[in-house]
Amino acid sequence: MKAIRLHAFRGLEGIRAEEIEAPRPGPGEVLLRVEAAGVNPVDWKIANGDLQASLRHELPITLGCDASGVVEAVDEGVEDLEVGDAVFGYLDLGRCGAFASHALARAEELAPKPESVSHAEAAAVPVAALTSWQAMVEAAGLREGRRVLVHAAAGGVGSIAVQMAKALGATVVGTASGENEDFVRSLGADAFIDYRTTPFEDAAREIDVVFDTVGGDTQERSFKVLKAGGFLVSIVTPPSETLAHDLGVTTAMIAVHPDGARLRELAMLMEEGRMRATVAQAYPLDEALAALRRSREGHTRGKLVLLPA
Ligand SMILES: NC(=O)c1ccc[n+]([C@@H]2O[C@H](COP(=O)([O-])OP(=O)(O)OC[C@H]3O[C@@H](n4cnc5c(N)ncnc54)[C@H](OP(=O)(O)O)[C@@H]3O)[C@@H](O)[C@H]2O)c1
Repeated sequence: MKAIRLHAFRGLEGIRAEEIEAPRPGPGEVLLRVEAAGVNPVDWKIANGDLQASLRHELPITLGCDASGVVEAVDEGVEDLEVGDAVFGYLDLGRCGAFASHALARAEELAPKPESVSHAEAAAVPVAALTSWQAMVEAAGLREGRRVLVHAAAGGVGSIAVQMAKALGATVVGTASGENEDFVRSLGADAFIDYRTTPFEDAAREIDVVFDTVGGDTQERSFKVLKAGGFLVSIVTPPSETLAHDLGVTTAMIAVHPDGARLRELAMLMEEGRMRATVAQAYPLDEALAALRRSREGHTRGKLVLLPA
């Protein structure tokens, strides 16, 4: 099968497209024919070696962790899935493998693909939706009537987070550059801040939850917009505990984990048309490097996906 594999932690230079043998499922696993794979910043971060302290990958590995496809084989211990099922999911980063014509997944990482949604759209969702849920809801307790500031609201995670927060009944403020204003508002944001022209901390006030998808100076300035008792949750860097203590707010940094059961629930929002993926561009698998290069530039609207077929 065709696969995009990392041979050395040298960024995109360490990646090769090659023919390898298809993997065989073991207990609890299924073999997927990958119809589409979502591109995430974590893919090029893994290639840089940025996550080696925790992931300890032994090379070569096939990159990619967001997949949508069709079950081609199941091994023992898999009860809810059958050959021919259309499924999607976030594959654990310890194994990855989605940038290929076939990939292994653990049954509990997968959920049925919503029928109304294409494989390309489905592959754009698992990491973004599970990250948004685990950060905003599970960690920060976002719920109806609360105000959330979503940074990078036009990005892969942010564009899903805005819709999820609206579906929960929250009031949403989103940041992005001005050219993305119409897009972010179309996702349901109640207010928009162009981070290039307006210091967001001058425009956003009394926020219950900040969803930090940017880190650095953006994260530090975000403390100023929180209500006392508010929550800053980051998916990029651990927030300052000193600042949190001084201001009387709570912080967390989370790393998304696979959760097929939750994905199954979030897929209902897609079926109901309340959450949709935005695919900025679909690339053939052979052009994975071009897609990763574009992701690395940091200005994708929605998601990039790869199509193995
Ligand atoms: N911890 C975890 O489990 C976890 C999970 C998922 C993602 N992440 C991390 O979260 C980050 C975001 O991921 P992603 O997939 O959403 O990335 P992405 O799709 O590449 O984000 C691109 C978006 O970021 C916006 N942007 C760039 N700089 C900005 C700024 N200063 N303020 C506001 N918006 C800005 C861009 O908008 P403009 O073009 O308008 O500038 C663009 O739409 C990445 O670092 C990723 O590795 C972590």
